[in-house]
Amino acid sequence: MGLLTVTDTTLPNQEETVTESTEFERNQKRYQELIATFPHEKGWRPKNPLIQYGGHWLMQPRAEGCMYAQEFFQARPSDLLLCSYPKTGTTWLKALTFAIRNRSHFNDSTNPLLKRNPHELVPYIEIEFAFFPHIDVINNKENTLFATHLPHGLLPESVSRSSCKMVYIWRDPKDTFISMWIFYKKQKTQDGPLNSLEESFDMFCRGLSSNGPYLDHVLTYWKAYQENPDQIFFLKYEKMRADPLLYVKRLAEFMGYGFTAEEEKEGIVDKVVNLCSFDTLKNLEPNQGEKNMENRPSSFANSAFFRKGEIGDWQNYLTREMAARIDGLMVEKLKGSGLLEW
Ligand code: A3P
Repeated sequence: MGLLTVTDTTLPNQEETVTESTEFERNQKRYQELIATFPHEKGWRPKNPLIQYGGHWLMQPRAEGCMYAQEFFQARPSDLLLCSYPKTGTTWLKALTFAIRNRSHFNDSTNPLLKRNPHELVPYIEIEFAFFPHIDVINNKENTLFATHLPHGLLPESVSRSSCKMVYIWRDPKDTFISMWIFYKKQKTQDGPLNSLEESFDMFCRGLSSNGPYLDHVLTYWKAYQENPDQIFFLKYEKMRADPLLYVKRLAEFMGYGFTAEEEKEGIVDKVVNLCSFDTLKNLEPNQGEKNMENRPSSFANSAFFRKGEIGDWQNYLTREMAARIDGLMVEKLKGSGLLEW
């Protein structure tokens, strides 16, 4: 009998008693001993330090989940891994890939997206796969959609061995930062008060954020994409927002689930785009108010994943100097990579 104490920032600060010990629990102590030897830095909350692992900063549970995924996640060639830095459009990408992949299984009124938050349908390898192995989507061998916030260098080896496909989405760092800080503001946690916007901003720019440095995260996947363009599909939030139809068609094609001419004529692409749009998902019953995920505990209400979905909301929060600092960093980091012009 094992007792799993989960103190994740994504999870409520409560003890969860699991009757049978899981594979993760049997290995957790080993991960914790290793993690204790890694550099630690003050995080965005007093009781939530950042741990340096593989050149990136992870929160304790994410580092443990990452090690577990590295050891046990067996990617299959047919899997699709959705990769992103937090707050760059993951929820949207989860909904879109789920809707594309499963469109022949459901009709307009039976799609599970109408009843469940996209995060319940597409599990993270470093969260659900590690901490919640009992949930439906992990046990459903038919599921081929997985997600991760880990940088490319920390992915399980099985990902490259299997040659499974990956999709990476990224976003303007200014909007990403604002989205992240406001998201954390909504978190129910006992890890202490969130740093001020100014303090968090400074840390974000210095790379000290969950899975940070953000631009390095983007670059790890960009390099992998350049080395293997058939394996990774690159998306930018702003571009997809401007022309969702075009990118959803390209995404479906990449996934091997391209829309037929007939489907296009019948308006199926528009249906997918509409079902997964910000306005539709935000207004669905499961994503309202204080509703939580049904298959696992979380310290965020489902509604927290849908805020404004706008481009340039940073202008309401950041000073001109702050914006210039991030923009300068972006040019410095990405110049010569081809990403600035992409
Ligand atoms: P804002 O906070 O700027 O509104 P992630 O899903 O990676 O956590 O990213 C969250 C960001 O994506 C939030 O941005 C959120 O509002 C936005 N978002 C969520 N669902 C979306 C959708 N269906 N279409 C477009 N943006 C969406």
